[in-house]
Amino acid sequence: MGNAKRIAVVGATGAVGIEMMETLEKRNFPIASIKLLASSRSAGKKLKFKGEEITVEELTEASFKDVDIALFAAGGSTSEKFAPACVKAGCVMIDNSSAFRMDENVPLVIPEINPEDAFKHKGIIANPNCTTAIMAVVVYPLHKAKKVRRLVASTYQAASGGGAPAMQELLDQTAAVLRGEKAEVKVMAQQIAFNIFPHIDVFQENGYTKEEMKMVNETRKIMHAPEMKISCTSVRIPVLRAHSESLNLEFEEEITPEEARSILAKAPGVRLCDDPENKIYPMPIDATGKYDVLAGRIRQDISRDDKKGLDLFVSGDQLLKGAALNAVQIAELLVK
Ligand code: A2P
Repeated sequence: MGNAKRIAVVGATGAVGIEMMETLEKRNFPIASIKLLASSRSAGKKLKFKGEEITVEELTEASFKDVDIALFAAGGSTSEKFAPACVKAGCVMIDNSSAFRMDENVPLVIPEINPEDAFKHKGIIANPNCTTAIMAVVVYPLHKAKKVRRLVASTYQAASGGGAPAMQELLDQTAAVLRGEKAEVKVMAQQIAFNIFPHIDVFQENGYTKEEMKMVNETRKIMHAPEMKISCTSVRIPVLRAHSESLNLEFEEEITPEEARSILAKAPGVRLCDDPENKIYPMPIDATGKYDVLAGRIRQDISRDDKKGLDLFVSGDQLLKGAALNAVQIAELLVK
């Protein structure tokens, strides 16, 4: 284990943090030591890693001494507050929050797309927004082949995007409604049980939400495609942990569904799931717990007179490719 790293997971008790630990373990990431960090509320709590009980410590500015790579999943304000101490300690920060994603000094990386950008870091590497990562891993190989001119996405996002408290809220509200009681809204914008709502993150001046604009801006940055035209509507649905997206793509050149299928069948991080006759298509229930993003329902866009349009549907685990897995894959680039 000559290249083994000293790792810290910041936000280890959260929905993404727990998946980060599990992903490090499952992928056999070379670890010399691991530190689990969270707020003072969780200090002293014990979590299992590789069968061993590890005590959660309170995150402080001194936490990064003797750490090579810190995986951050504790929200944007925690990332902003502790980034200087982390970088000063010589520890590389892989940040799951949106705090630094659009900073021009911070690479925003999906290892299947732009691994080379990771090596330009100055201490911080950003992990993309979950919906963006799930979409981009499927769209990029098609873009590389036929160049995407315009992309219109509608998302169907799981509760996990709001962290462990949002997942609990979906369960609690559903149980309350089934008991004939009123659903109590605590951390979500609206009732999520037996409902959907087109409101994720805050509204911007242009009428889009911040979540929708992440899809626009982050995709362009990751793909180095500032000219790509993108529009998105983000919707929260009562699913626990995998996001789905309906995608309409316009290409510079003609592309048939068969061509798209043969490109996606070979694409890293993608599993083609496209046999509607046999009821095979992407669904969040099948994407849950999987590293690959499922892609299917690929068809020619019939609203056009040419063959430059495709429609497709994708589902990907928000906590894995949308967060923890992508972060661990970035850390793996640094080990290689
Ligand atoms: P804690 O459990 O101690 O509150 P989720 O996204 O599932 O809500 O998880 C958020 C994660 O970020 C949790 O591990 C949480 O720890 C951690 N966290 C939140 N605020 C802070 C903070 N100020 N300092 C350190 N960790 C924090």
